[in-house]
Amino acid sequence: MPSVPKAVEELSPEEAEIELARLAEEIAAADIAYHQKDAPEITDAEYDALRIRNAEIEKRFPDLVRPDSPTGSIGAPPAEGFAKVRHAVPMLSLAKAYTDQDVIDFIERGRRFFERDKDLDIAFTAEPKIDGLSASLRYEKGVFVQGATRGDGTVGEDITANLKTIADIPHRLKGSGWPETIEIRGEVYMTYAEFEALKERSAATGGQDYVNPRNTAAGSLRQKDPSVTASRNLKFFAYAWGYTTEDPAPTQYESVRKIADWGFKVSPLMVRARSVEELIAQYRQIEAQRSSLGYDIDGVVYKVDRIDLQRRWGFISGEPRWAIAHKFPAEQATTTVRRIDIQVGRTGTLAPVARLDPVTVGGVTVENVTLHNEDYIAGFDSNGQPIREGHDIRIGDTVVIQRAGDVIPQIVSVVIDKRPADALPYAFPHTCPVCGSPATREMNEKTGKEDSRRRCTGELVCPAQAVEGLRHFVSRGAMDIEGLGAENIDLFFNAGLIRTAADIFTLKDRRPEARRVLAERREEQARQREAVSGKERKNVRSADQRNFEGLDKLFAAIDARREPELDRFIFALGIRHVGETTAAVLAKTFSTVEEFVRVGKETAAAEDPMAVFPSVNGIGGTVIEALRNFFGNTRNDDVLDALLAQVRPKPYVVTVSADSAVAGKTVVFTGSLEKMTRSEAKAMAERLGAKVAGSVSAKTDIVVAGPGAGSKLATAQSLGVEVITEDEWFERVRGA
Ligand code: IVH
Repeated sequence: MPSVPKAVEELSPEEAEIELARLAEEIAAADIAYHQKDAPEITDAEYDALRIRNAEIEKRFPDLVRPDSPTGSIGAPPAEGFAKVRHAVPMLSLAKAYTDQDVIDFIERGRRFFERDKDLDIAFTAEPKIDGLSASLRYEKGVFVQGATRGDGTVGEDITANLKTIADIPHRLKGSGWPETIEIRGEVYMTYAEFEALKERSAATGGQDYVNPRNTAAGSLRQKDPSVTASRNLKFFAYAWGYTTEDPAPTQYESVRKIADWGFKVSPLMVRARSVEELIAQYRQIEAQRSSLGYDIDGVVYKVDRIDLQRRWGFISGEPRWAIAHKFPAEQATTTVRRIDIQVGRTGTLAPVARLDPVTVGGVTVENVTLHNEDYIAGFDSNGQPIREGHDIRIGDTVVIQRAGDVIPQIVSVVIDKRPADALPYAFPHTCPVCGSPATREMNEKTGKEDSRRRCTGELVCPAQAVEGLRHFVSRGAMDIEGLGAENIDLFFNAGLIRTAADIFTLKDRRPEARRVLAERREEQARQREAVSGKERKNVRSADQRNFEGLDKLFAAIDARREPELDRFIFALGIRHVGETTAAVLAKTFSTVEEFVRVGKETAAAEDPMAVFPSVNGIGGTVIEALRNFFGNTRNDDVLDALLAQVRPKPYVVTVSADSAVAGKTVVFTGSLEKMTRSEAKAMAERLGAKVAGSVSAKTDIVVAGPGAGSKLATAQSLGVEVITEDEWFERVRGA
């Protein structure tokens, strides 16, 4: 467990460099989660803390600022899929104030900046900070021509068609006197009412679950099909402008009024104020109305009113100096933990969920909250740092939960005084609640840390993972069974006809049942079509006939894969960490499935797996541990045995190249090799058509000698055999 982060002043340059790299990575990941996937993983406050620390370290070590430094960048680069739009004027983010003092400091900075103009009367606007996504709408001669997302602030995505479906966005400006060209900027958002309605519609049709209005609005805006966006009834508030041929008016306040005259909705809560007291009074006013607005806001934005003063005060690293967002504290509520359920994900992760007494936070009812993993329940974060004052979470505990604007609800603290006397620490299961297999925590090789998640090792046998495993088994890169896609797998799995991979190959024996399942699906599909079109159905018989032929084809496709290539077969097993490349290395190493299984089982049984498993380049501790888990699970053994009774993977044959520079030559490797292991060198030489010998004789053509080569090198020299270095070997076989 790492200790508490060091104060920036105490960091050595080496430590600073490491931390800047880590921060760049974490901030980029958070940006992508928030902006591209619309699924934030950390709270705003945590995010801000990362950025602040990054900025502080950069300030102390300016030489260490990375080329990919997050400072100055806003959000995430645009996602692929929509055309890119370069903003004529960048779309900025706002500096943040968390306390009244921060606001006082902001105004004070302004006073100091304009010090020479002693009598300057600096006014500000105050208005809600809408929690949605900003958009920039370009109007030429009063006509809406292009609309874009913020993206990274410089380049956004062209979502004109989607924005056009929003009723609050005029296709033509109203009135007169608008600039020749102007980019109107504002916030696209979704009301709570619309969000709830969408969730209800989705639940009725078994559709996806929506996290919160902001992320849903973001997802709705990125639809490929504008009619989907239209169905979401998004809203828009205008509050600023970007490029313009002419300022709308000399002040922020009047400009926004003008924009309203041109047909936009603007916040009715915007006021003009002249002192800190007035600004903060407006903040409290807006905060008091927050829960009755019907949409999310997460603070109040103050802006210098006069446009000429805005220009003079200017910008700093992606933020205007003349504006600040005064954030609301996250909304909190108190409730009780009734139960802790463990859900098993598709990859076998055991995910604990706290079931709470329902409670309303920020306009949303919260009944479930993720507990992430067992360390989190015990009171530690992923770095081993205590959270919630180190309190663990127990069933029966009274907890404070919060919804920080856009982030999914979380438990912030345990009200320890209210803990029932008989509450016990939660015992996180060490077996999978679905299949009973052991659930283990893996070691992350890179960090040397234990994975915070516990995972079911059941793989093929765990029903929670089985469908996923089966889908993988039949997929393209794996067994590649034609006509048996994910949809059919689901169908047969749910009907109980295919439970494990072996069942695929015996499906033929259950032909009548398989036929019935397919027929039922066709019936269902026809019924749905009918319901949509209102037409009656004919040809029931021919549909049945088609099932018959379809099945024959399917069985033929399955039979055609009874002798798969060994690497495909190993990959198809879906062993963790064994992707296509690793599967190929394993196939090459062991040549036959029997040998692979034998070594796998031996490794699982061995006390020291490293001593049993041959040293192979590309196979590290993570893979060996995964193989150990797989073969150490007797249930997997059963599935594998059943499978091998049905399929005969072909021995892996190395295709030998006949025309390489070393084809037909006898090669000896000696000394220590630095770029490849001995077994790799041998495999490579053989693939290139060479013969690899263990000792040097007159028949040897080439000796590849690494550092420390001894007697073999001497023999080669005395026999006049060609001796080359490892580098020269690579040179010679290059391109082969
Ligand atoms: S003004 C030059 N006003 O907050 C300043 N932004 O953190 C440009 N936002 O990207 C922004 N309500 O998405 C402004 N009334 C408001 C706002 C607002 C929400 C968002 C906007 C911006 C982000 C900055």
